[in-house]
Amino acid sequence: MRIEIATLFPDMCEAVLSESIIGRARKAGAIEVHCHNIRDYTLDKHRRVDDTPYGGGMGMVMQAEPIYRCWQAVCEQLGERPHTIYLSPQGKTLTQNRAREFSQMSSLFLLCGHYEGVDQRVLDKIVDEEVSIGDYVLTGGELPALVLTDAVARMCSGVLPSALCFEDVSHFNGLLEYPQYSRPEIWEGERVPEILLSGHHLHISRWRQAESLRVTQEKRPDLYQKYLEEQE
Ligand code: ADE
Repeated sequence: MRIEIATLFPDMCEAVLSESIIGRARKAGAIEVHCHNIRDYTLDKHRRVDDTPYGGGMGMVMQAEPIYRCWQAVCEQLGERPHTIYLSPQGKTLTQNRAREFSQMSSLFLLCGHYEGVDQRVLDKIVDEEVSIGDYVLTGGELPALVLTDAVARMCSGVLPSALCFEDVSHFNGLLEYPQYSRPEIWEGERVPEILLSGHHLHISRWRQAESLRVTQEKRPDLYQKYLEEQE
């Protein structure tokens, strides 16, 4: 899988993407993530990427041409047209299911907007879909692009030690994860649930399933209802 991030702040993205699990997966070649500086695709000597909005109004608008040239260069490097996503609060909210579908695509192009927005004409020309990471507004698309990259990358093969690492966690099957415990057996007078020490795998797995349902019902009654409806 290749993820291509078009941004005005490539260092901000690289700083996050070279650490921890994603950083290791990139070094090992399990995923490729490249950050492209949109400013490198300007043609004027001032390397200008934005201008005032037609019709007036506050702020600046990112111009179409540098973004389009960046996208074309990436298409050429890839030898294919990547699935192109514009990170925007107007998009459909990212879900675990959608992230899994993205992880099965061969390449993604993530466009990070800034200022008051992006010239609509380039969005109409290159973007397949807009994706939001929640109903709130951030100062730019970089953090959303990093969130999407992280959610997608962890489901690509070779990034986590095994698919069990992401199949067993919250949201994968529509439920939240059961509680986890580690050593010591007693901490501040609180014991680890006895069943987890029993070594009885079937009982443990039934307990975890029941806890998953209980936790989901308690913390996210909306997800619980949906889960029940889907079981019918
Ligand atoms: N850009 C600004 N806010 C955003 C959000 N909530 N999701 C995706 N992109 C954004």
